Amino acid sequence: MSRRRLDFQVAPGGQLRGRARVPGDKSISHRSIMLAALADGISEITGFLEGEDCLATLSAFRRMGVTIDGPDAGRVRVRGVGLRGLQAPEGPLDLGNSGTSMRLLAGLLAGQSFSSELIGDSSLSRRPMRRVTDPLTRMGADIHCSAEGTPPLRIHGRALQGLRYSMPVASAQVKSCLLLAGLYAEGRTCVREPAPTRDHTERMLRGFGCQVQVEDGWICVQGGQRLRPAGIEVPADISSVAFFLVGASIAPGSDLLLEHVGLNATRSGVVEILRLMGANIEILAAREVGGEPVADLRVRSATLHGIEIPRALVPLAIDEFPALFIAAACARGETVLAGAEELRVKESDRIQVMAEGLQALGVAAAPLPDGIIIRGGAVGGGEVEARGDHRIAMSFAMAGLVAGGPLCVRDCANVETSFPGFAALARGCGLSLVEAHKELP
Ligand code: S3P
Repeated sequence: MSRRRLDFQVAPGGQLRGRARVPGDKSISHRSIMLAALADGISEITGFLEGEDCLATLSAFRRMGVTIDGPDAGRVRVRGVGLRGLQAPEGPLDLGNSGTSMRLLAGLLAGQSFSSELIGDSSLSRRPMRRVTDPLTRMGADIHCSAEGTPPLRIHGRALQGLRYSMPVASAQVKSCLLLAGLYAEGRTCVREPAPTRDHTERMLRGFGCQVQVEDGWICVQGGQRLRPAGIEVPADISSVAFFLVGASIAPGSDLLLEHVGLNATRSGVVEILRLMGANIEILAAREVGGEPVADLRVRSATLHGIEIPRALVPLAIDEFPALFIAAACARGETVLAGAEELRVKESDRIQVMAEGLQALGVAAAPLPDGIIIRGGAVGGGEVEARGDHRIAMSFAMAGLVAGGPLCVRDCANVETSFPGFAALARGCGLSLVEAHKELP
């Protein structure tokens, strides 16, 4: 089997201008397939993200007997099979790079009447799974990971009991996993998070006619609820917009309008953090679409300054730190991040990989166990490793706008997991980026 390697070669200079609509929200796209598959009838989805991660979720449900038409230009039609209609897949379900697919499916599959096995690529195979297998086991699940607490997950579906669980980590994936398992459990399942995390599962469950109660910080579902089919309009992904917010902020002369962006308050920490750093971001035409807040964002270049990132904003911007580190590298003074140890267990160790990349470009970046200290200054040209992490690849691509010389970002093929068409869209806005493909043996 040969794999393609992709490097980004970015020429410095340029500005980001015009208007752009980035692809659909990854978290919402995953959930749209999962809930539509469990509904009693046909659901239509528009704006679905056709990236590898969400396609892994889609094909997992096809393999469990769900008929799905599309995706075709973001349109997907799912013929739901009802809460008890999934069928045993033949062989393991390969979820590629997608932690969301694996952790949410773990909950959904624990209460089925069949067995399943979940596997992933080399990055996913290193990620911690006890955070889901431990509470699921307490619900009565028969689920096992490796001795190291990593995939593959082996699940023997069986009857579950409701659980009251106070989560040790602020994780929307763990919360969602348990709420989905809760649909199959006897009685009520209630989870409490140490800090608010993205609430797309709760919103979408309600959109499918389920009751989700929030009482004293406990988020609860009653087992056995049926899902009504629904129409879902997926907004543009704020996590993908983040690269453009940073690029336009740091490149002098930029003025960019990002259209139809999902601005759920549990996701918009990046806008708040950039504004605290002095960014010029306007929120225009705020509206609600399909139960999610949406707006257009106008961003113009600005002089940024370093800040101490408020801890309360960390879970609300958890995927945007690679991009925010580039903003910090271009800001006056020091930016300090703490309380973000979760970054070490994402698609890569994002603290370490970002620190090494920034240092390679001459930026003073000191990793901490749970964060980083970055002293803003000149960003040099040269070569950095994205180590297969999509968000790191796109973040360094944006750094190229202000680099002192040409910048090569290596190992960028996984950009396809979350942002198909990134290079073309960024070029259309003014980034001078060339994709260099190589066949690997
Ligand atoms: C996600 C939750 C977050 C985030 C991930 C998507 C989700 O992970 O980093 O990219 O869709 O629920 P955690 O739950 O591990 O914080």
